[in-house]
Amino acid sequence: MDWNPDSYAANARFVSDLGRPVIELLSPQPGERILDLGCGDGVLTSDLLKYGCDVVAVDSSTEMVEAAKRRGLNAHVVDGQSLRFTSEFDAVFSNAAMHWMVDLESVLEGVCRALKPGGRFVGELGGHGNVRTIISAIESALSSRRLPVASPWFFPRPEDFRRLLESTGFAARHIDLFPRPTLLPGDVCSWLATFAQPYTSVVPAAQKEGFYTEISESLRRTLVDEEGNWIADYVRLQFAATKPPEGTGDVLL
Ligand code: BEZ
Repeated sequence: MDWNPDSYAANARFVSDLGRPVIELLSPQPGERILDLGCGDGVLTSDLLKYGCDVVAVDSSTEMVEAAKRRGLNAHVVDGQSLRFTSEFDAVFSNAAMHWMVDLESVLEGVCRALKPGGRFVGELGGHGNVRTIISAIESALSSRRLPVASPWFFPRPEDFRRLLESTGFAARHIDLFPRPTLLPGDVCSWLATFAQPYTSVVPAAQKEGFYTEISESLRRTLVDEEGNWIADYVRLQFAATKPPEGTGDVLL
C-alpha cells in the first residue's frame, strides 16, 4: 500500500478527527510513555503530546512516518505485526490502523510485551461489517473482470477480538461494535484511490476509469444522501484492555 500524505490530508482527515474520542477513552496522564500504533501522518499523535505524554509513534509506511516526523514527532517505520519493545510503555494507543494488520495475534503479542504490567491498550479499528457495501461493489466489479479478489483488511467481530485479547493475556474492560456512517470529503472514487489500492492495483491502468465508474454507479443509490453527499458505511470496534499487574497471573502449584 502506498500512502501519499497530501492525498491523505485531503481525503482522509476525518479518520483522525473521528479518532479523538479514542484519546478520551485512553485518558492519557502527564508523564506517561505511550506507543501510538499505526500513527499515520501523526495528527492524533500530536494531540497525545498535548497531554504532556512522552509518545513514540510507529507506522509501516515510510511516507507517513516522514510526514509525522515533519510534525516534530518521535516516529519510526515499524510493522505493527513485529513490535520489538519490552515493558516500556504505560499505554498503547491505536486508531484506524489495526484492520490493516491481518496477523492480529502477533500484533497483540507485541503490544502485550511492549506494555509495563498494568499498562493499558486502548484503540479503535474497523469492526465486523465495516464498509460492507463498498467491499461488495469492489468485489463484484473485480469478479466480473475475472480479476483476483483478496481483501487486505480484517474487521473482527467483538467476540473474536475479546477472545484474542484474553488469550494474549489482556483483561478486556470495554469492547463495543457500532455503526458510524461517515461523511466523505469527496466521492467514493476518491475513497477508493486513498484506501483501496490493494484491491484496485490488480486492475489494468486502461480499465481503471471504467472500474471506478461502475463501482460509483452501483453505490450511488445506497450511499449518496439527498444533498449529494457520499456517506460510507463505517462500523467501528472500540476497545480498552489492561495487561494484568505483576503477581496477578496463575499461581503454579
Ligand atoms: C477504516 O478506517 O475503517 C478503513 C480504512 C481503510 C479501508 C477500509 C476501512
